[in-house]
Amino acid sequence: MSIIRKIKDYYKNSSGANILFTTPSHGQGRFIPEELENLLGQRFYNCDFSEIEGFDNLSNPQGIIDNLLNKLSKIYNSKKTFILTNGSTSGILAAFLALLSEDDSVLIARNSHISACKSLVLTGSVPEWILPEYNAEWDIYEEVNAKQIEQKLSANKKIKAVYITSPTYEGVYSDINSISKVCKKHDVYLIVDEAHGALLNFGNFKTTPAILCGADISVQSLHKTAGAPNPCALLHISKSSEILPDKIQNALNLINTTSPSYPLMCAIEGTVDYLHSLEGKKEIENLLTNISKFKQSLNKNISCYDGFSDPAKLLIKINNISGLRASDILNNKFNIEEEFSNNKAMLFITGLGTNGEMLKRLSDALNFISATETEDYFADSNTSYMLPEISLKPRTAYQKANILNKKYTVNALEAVGKISAETICAYPPGIPIIVRGEIINKQTISLAKKYLDKSTFEILT
Ligand SMILES: Cc1ncc(COP(=O)(O)O)c(C=O)c1O
Repeated sequence: MSIIRKIKDYYKNSSGANILFTTPSHGQGRFIPEELENLLGQRFYNCDFSEIEGFDNLSNPQGIIDNLLNKLSKIYNSKKTFILTNGSTSGILAAFLALLSEDDSVLIARNSHISACKSLVLTGSVPEWILPEYNAEWDIYEEVNAKQIEQKLSANKKIKAVYITSPTYEGVYSDINSISKVCKKHDVYLIVDEAHGALLNFGNFKTTPAILCGADISVQSLHKTAGAPNPCALLHISKSSEILPDKIQNALNLINTTSPSYPLMCAIEGTVDYLHSLEGKKEIENLLTNISKFKQSLNKNISCYDGFSDPAKLLIKINNISGLRASDILNNKFNIEEEFSNNKAMLFITGLGTNGEMLKRLSDALNFISATETEDYFADSNTSYMLPEISLKPRTAYQKANILNKKYTVNALEAVGKISAETICAYPPGIPIIVRGEIINKQTISLAKKYLDKSTFEILT
């Protein structure tokens, strides 16, 4: 039986159901502060259970949750799919915790989400960074290529896992087929952060989902493009991987709450059922058709990034107007908000909740800006990011700073040459500006100023 069915049945037969003296203590909506009832409604509370008779336990699923996991594993053609009610973040942490021990080396693309940096602290593993190629025309980092990975793996035999993001935040795909071949040759795990690729399994995209291209593990956020609420996500282990599902379950149990949200588990079930249905697949096609029409409706001064990338991500540039300036106008004049903007472009994330009307408003606004603005302005681009020197591994830096209190705050001038006690991430530029344990340099200071207006830094003594 499905989770959604089970909850519906509970209310159908609730006269015969047990009287619950269990958590959650709102009694399935018998108690709701009025303000919350007005905001969230009764139904959210109605769906909120814990492991009562006939329900299941996410940390040791044997009933309705296990049924869902089995169904998902079939849909995604995986060895095992896990549901994550704490976002891809929890899947990334769990993947690291399942595969890496203290002092193991891990090859990580520098344009990774901050959850990878957090995983380094939790595992005590040692990062070796790869810097993807920088595309100055769009001010973004491009894919990681198999050649770079081959070089790194040949040079450092201690690397146990490779971690990359595909599609990236900006939508750029890497060639997972080629990368996974290199990883297999060197006998290292490949983990793919596919948080932005949750529609890949259900529509006509330019690439195939990572676990079907040889990655061992992928993590997908259903809330990013697939229309689920925050922070519904999935972790998949590929059928061809040697990784035992128990390892992931145990790692998830280390970091997860023991009270997972039934409303979110219902949302995961309902969203994937929908994506997998004919109606869902049509809706994805619809979205892609609307996106093509949208692109055709843009005038000649506007370009859309058309590299090997996710069509649901609209990276758009208006000639001669910086993304930052265009974003200001869009926000202030048209009440349109984008995901992010950089010197050159703006990123608009679309998904199942994006309809033709929204895209029409966006194209009208962009066409208007391109026809009326003549500003010829580009701030300096971040063209030559250099990986900072590593002094301490992230876990050691974290412990020194936060357990031993060996950190203090200094101004920018004093910070240069010191070991950073903090990880500083900003989108853009989409790479961690500095990771705790690295040595702060002049570029760190200028990027932190430029993207975060940050002028003080936490350093280790
Ligand atoms: C590339 C990437 N990976 C992982 C995550 C984390 O995903 P979640 O919000 O589902 O935890 C994000 C979130 O923004 C992301 O952009």
